[in-house]
Amino acid sequence: MIAIEDVSKRYADGTVAVDRLSLQIPNHSITVLVGPSGCGKTTTLRMINRMIEPSSGTIRVNGEDILRKPVNALRQSMGYVIQNAGLFQHRTILDNIATVPRLLGWSKQRARARAAELMERVGLDPAMARRYPYQLSGGQQQRVGVARALAADPPILLMDEPFSAVDPVVRRGLQEELLRIQGELGKAIVFVTHDMDEAITIGDRVAVLRTGGKLAQFAAPDELLSAPADAFVEEFLGGDRGIRGLSFLSTRDLALDRSRVFPVGSDWQQLAGESAGAGPVLVTDADAKPLGWADLTVWAGDVQALEPHGQAFEVGKDSLRVALDRAVLSPTGQAVAVDGAGRVLGLAGQETVAAAIRAARQRRAADSEGVSTVKAAR
Ligand SMILES: Nc1ncnc2c1ncn2[C@@H]1O[C@H](COP(=O)(O)OP(=O)(O)OP(=O)(O)O)[C@@H](O)[C@H]1O
Ligand SMILES: [Mg+2]
Repeated sequence: MIAIEDVSKRYADGTVAVDRLSLQIPNHSITVLVGPSGCGKTTTLRMINRMIEPSSGTIRVNGEDILRKPVNALRQSMGYVIQNAGLFQHRTILDNIATVPRLLGWSKQRARARAAELMERVGLDPAMARRYPYQLSGGQQQRVGVARALAADPPILLMDEPFSAVDPVVRRGLQEELLRIQGELGKAIVFVTHDMDEAITIGDRVAVLRTGGKLAQFAAPDELLSAPADAFVEEFLGGDRGIRGLSFLSTRDLALDRSRVFPVGSDWQQLAGESAGAGPVLVTDADAKPLGWADLTVWAGDVQALEPHGQAFEVGKDSLRVALDRAVLSPTGQAVAVDGAGRVLGLAGQETVAAAIRAARQRRAADSEGVSTVKAAR
């Protein structure tokens, strides 16, 4: 746990970069510092590893004042990743990653074995080991930066806008990769960004800073979206916060409609005569996988003639945001709900999703602690 207690930083020219900041940063979680340019994010991060000394206040790591620790030992316990990776251009990828272990006195062989292991962990092809940084794409270089920071297995990872220089698709890939690695390693990660979407995607907790280095709000992403502390936070969150907040609600309890799903080989003429004939039905194969939509008043049983069912959502894994999106895109207005194996569990229309949103809101109101949230595929 990193405890920032009433910390301020006033630079020599009088600029107050950080103003009486207090933050508790827990282990095994990602804490994001977000805010506009110049609000003191980098200054805060660098005070944690003592690249910058606070003007006042205290920073503790696991209870111990960092000023009492030898600075080398402190920095060895903290990996540091920056924008554009900051790699050593004259060293190979493998030797870049092996830098800290070598500084710690590991043998060349052991350090390189560790570096090779980390290349795999961050999703880099082993063939890149002998290349130099200029021979890698920006996204690949960022992966090397993350691997290098992890090399000596520090309990803390400080990341300053690590993914800002790459395009949005690569950036999403890097974010997913970081979440996966964090799921395996459980570090205390402090992650700086000025991109609120990135903060919401990867943060367990998000600290929003305003210009002048003042804390505006410190909360979990779903709480930021549903209850921004003031107009500054609300504006910084940007549009669509209601829809984005659905990313944190589970599809687990959706009241799925199973009455309009039928397997191939059903008696279509009989069904057409019954109420099932009143609207489109979903036809599934023998394994309960979706085949497509049929209007039983005209469909003659030809699987080739079914209307495509579009993308389904996975119950429990995908969020309500995904379910709503699928329903909006569906030609019938009904989203197809499947289990992990792709078998149809039922259908959910926009009204079904709306009912689930109302139920979640009531639960939230009844129990401000106990809203079930998911960090699911959004
Ligand atoms: N060495 C310095 N001397 C004087 N002022 C500084 C110094 N370093 C930073 N500042 C000022 O402190 C404030 C905070 O800077 P900081 O780099 O922490 O912001 P930031 O939130 O990381 O911004 P960005 O998003 O642009 O990276 C800014 O006004 C900056 O100009
Ligand atoms: Mg900065």
